[in-house]
Amino acid sequence: MPAIGLGTFGSDHVSADQVAEAVKGAIAAGYRHLDCAAVYRNEDRIGPAVKETGIPRDDLWITSKVWNDQHSDVLGACRQSLHDLQLDHLDMYLVHWPFPNFHPPGCSVDSRSPDARPYIHEEFMRTWHQMEQLVDLGLTRHIGTSNMTIPKLKLLLRDARIKPAVNEMELHPHFQQPELFDFVRANGIEPIGYSPLGSPGRPERDRTPDDTVDVEDPVVVAIANRLGIHPAAVCIKWAVQRGQTPIPFSVKPRNYVANLECLKSAPLTDEDMRAIATIDKGCRLIKGQVFLWKDNQSWEDLWDMNGEIKG
Ligand SMILES: NC(=O)c1ccc[n+]([C@@H]2O[C@H](COP(=O)([O-])OP(=O)(O)OC[C@H]3O[C@@H](n4cnc5c(N)ncnc54)[C@H](OP(=O)(O)O)[C@@H]3O)[C@@H](O)[C@H]2O)c1
Repeated sequence: MPAIGLGTFGSDHVSADQVAEAVKGAIAAGYRHLDCAAVYRNEDRIGPAVKETGIPRDDLWITSKVWNDQHSDVLGACRQSLHDLQLDHLDMYLVHWPFPNFHPPGCSVDSRSPDARPYIHEEFMRTWHQMEQLVDLGLTRHIGTSNMTIPKLKLLLRDARIKPAVNEMELHPHFQQPELFDFVRANGIEPIGYSPLGSPGRPERDRTPDDTVDVEDPVVVAIANRLGIHPAAVCIKWAVQRGQTPIPFSVKPRNYVANLECLKSAPLTDEDMRAIATIDKGCRLIKGQVFLWKDNQSWEDLWDMNGEIKG
C-alpha cells in the first residue's frame, strides 16, 4: 500500500466534479493511492477521471467502503462501487463504521435513525463474512475495518477467517490514539490515518467548542518554521515516520502537491518526533454522534472508552 493516499471526501462544500479533477491532478503529480467510499457520492466521477489518466490499473491502490445501510448486502454495495469506479477489483474494501445506523448525507448531528442499534458482534460478523466472500470472489484483494476500537477488534480477530489488513482511524498530532495504534500494529494490522491535518475544512456541524487545531499548535508551527514548510507538511511527515498511512484531502493543486512532495525532503528529527508525541490532546474531531442509538447518549458511548462495548 503506498505510504500516502489522497482523501476524496468533499463533505458538503466540494463537488464531485472538483474531487474528480483533483484525483486527475494528484495522479499526474505522483499519487498512486485513493481513499474512496460510496457515501462520498463521487465514485461515479472518480472512475472516469482515473481512466483518463491512463495509469495502468496495477500501479494504483484504490480503497472503497461499504456504507452503514448496506451491511446486509455487502456484495451489492461492492459491485456498485466497482461499477462506479470502472474497476474489476478493489485493492482494499472497508466496513466504513461498525454500526449499521444509516443517516442521510448532511443531516444534523442530533438526528437519530429510528432503527439505530448498538454494535452487535454477531451482526457485525455476518457483515464480515460477506467481506471475506469478496476476497474469495476476487472483487477485492484485501479487506479491513474503519472506526473500530480495541474491544471490537479483539472479537473480530477471534472470529474472522480473513483478518482485517488495515484499520482506518482518525490520527493527527492532537489525536494520536497510542493504545489503538500499538494494538493494531502488534496484530499485523496497518493503521490508515484519516483527517491527518486535523480536518480544517470539516463542516460547522462537526465542530465543538473544545476542538483544537493541529496546524496552529506551537510545537508543529515551530518545526514548520525551522524547516521552512507548512504546518500541514509537518503533520504528514510525522504520520509517515510514525508508521501510519495518511490520506489528506485537498482539491487545491498547490496543497495536494505539497502534501506529497514534503515526503521527499529530510525527515523530522528524533527530537521533533518526541516533541510531537507530547502534544496529543486526545481531541477526537469526528465524533460520530449521528450513529448513536438512544436519546441522552454521549458520543463517548461509541468509542468503548472504558474498554467495554456499550450495549
Ligand atoms: N473512514 C472514515 O470514517 C473517514 C472519516 C473522515 C475522513 N476520511 C478520509 O480521510 C480523508 C481526509 O480527511 P479530512 O478531509 O477530514 O481531513 P484532512 O485531510 O485532515 O484535512 C483536509 C483539509 O485540509 C486542507 N488542506 C489540505 N492540504 C493542505 C495544505 N497543504 N495546506 C493547508 N491546508 C490544506 C484542505 O483544504 P483545500 O482543499 O483547500 O486544500 C481540506 O480543507 C477524507 O477525504 C476521507 O477520504 C475517512
